[in-house]
Amino acid sequence: MKNIKTTKRLITSALPYVNNIPHLGNLIQMLSADVFARFCRSRGYETMYVCGTDEYGTATETKALQDKKTPRELCDYYYKIHKEIYEWFNIAFDKFGRTSNEECTEITQSMFNDLDKNGFIKEHTSQQLFCPKCQMFLADRYVDGTCPKCGATDARGDQCDSCGTLLDPTQLLNPKCHTCGSTPEVRETKHLYIDLPSIAPKLEEWMKNASVEGKWAQNAIQMTRAWIRDGLNERAITRDLKWGIPVPKSGYENKVFYVWFNAPIGYMSITKQLEDELKSAGKKSFDWKKWWLPSESDEKFAEDDAKIELFQFIGKDNIPFHTVVFPCSEIGTGRDYTKLYHMSSTEFLNYEDGKFSKSKGVGVFGSDAKESGIPSDAWRFYIYYNRPENQDYQFTWKDFQEKYNKELIGNLGNLVNRTLLFINKNYGGKI
Ligand code: MF3
Ligand code: ZN
Repeated sequence: MKNIKTTKRLITSALPYVNNIPHLGNLIQMLSADVFARFCRSRGYETMYVCGTDEYGTATETKALQDKKTPRELCDYYYKIHKEIYEWFNIAFDKFGRTSNEECTEITQSMFNDLDKNGFIKEHTSQQLFCPKCQMFLADRYVDGTCPKCGATDARGDQCDSCGTLLDPTQLLNPKCHTCGSTPEVRETKHLYIDLPSIAPKLEEWMKNASVEGKWAQNAIQMTRAWIRDGLNERAITRDLKWGIPVPKSGYENKVFYVWFNAPIGYMSITKQLEDELKSAGKKSFDWKKWWLPSESDEKFAEDDAKIELFQFIGKDNIPFHTVVFPCSEIGTGRDYTKLYHMSSTEFLNYEDGKFSKSKGVGVFGSDAKESGIPSDAWRFYIYYNRPENQDYQFTWKDFQEKYNKELIGNLGNLVNRTLLFINKNYGGKI
């Protein structure tokens, strides 16, 4: 039996991209974490549930260009929409923060410096497309062209949507700059890589125990094993963009960190954001390191044997980032950052008979749910009931109606109602 009093529970749900309105797929993770956090609090565990918007990267930059806003304005606009929708769904975060703030910059740069100092950062020169008119290197989605595999003429630098092939921008035929339409030229550029192969032995050792002790979801164990079995590669952690965290190394003034390098660090920085906000409001605060780097925190939990368990709720498409890449960043710093304990990774939720798609506007969005006139508790019930644990599930309006009437009102509602009537009649309404 675990000692409930001294075990602390740190809970996160995947940070949604901020360039769009959230859909039900995002909500599954937040709701799952919310249900679990409420359970933990009710059982007397000291609990911290953090989430927030994932704000950097090409997707934000391109959307901002489209909407004629600056990336900052775009993020401010969507952050507010996200926050309001999750409030309507009654998600009880301890903090719903953002990644585009100082806290995230500070912790990301500090982790990078540690990795670099320990020899886990490599530099490589590669060929990349450069737009002579815009005077910049074109990251993934900044290039349009023809797919070399299927010939579709609307492929993007990172992927062809028609045949699904993952691409490198230099493979596109007839490439054009997405911003100005000019033909880009191939130039040499430098990027920084995290040396995952050198960290792999430690990761493997950690994973073997952690996945059993923390009872990871089956899909997470399988995918992580496959990644390790196939051998890890070095991964580029810098990009040619403006909207991102500056790289504290000379020669990298015009580059920023790749959004997936800093995004999971967002879980830590959002905890620090809470610390900083409480402090500046003159309220009782705490040290974020108490949760994330306890061995280096001045402030300790009252008990000597305090144990922190990190529970993460994500969709299966984010698994390797949480079970491989991010733990490698943590391990490579040589510091004792809190690492994943339990991985709760769901399968996909599909809409009617297709996929949810933000870009195509297919699915149920947070705002639709709010305007449907159906109370948020009914939505919470159905999303949770339908949680895609072992296989993909489908959202259909008809099924929602049936489950709501039959299960929630018919079964549960009826049971509660009868029980209360019985207590009222026979026990004077006292339980
Ligand atoms: N924004 C990513 C997505 O929606 C998830 C990021 S989770 C994080 O797929 F932890 F890495 F932030
Ligand atoms: Zn251009």
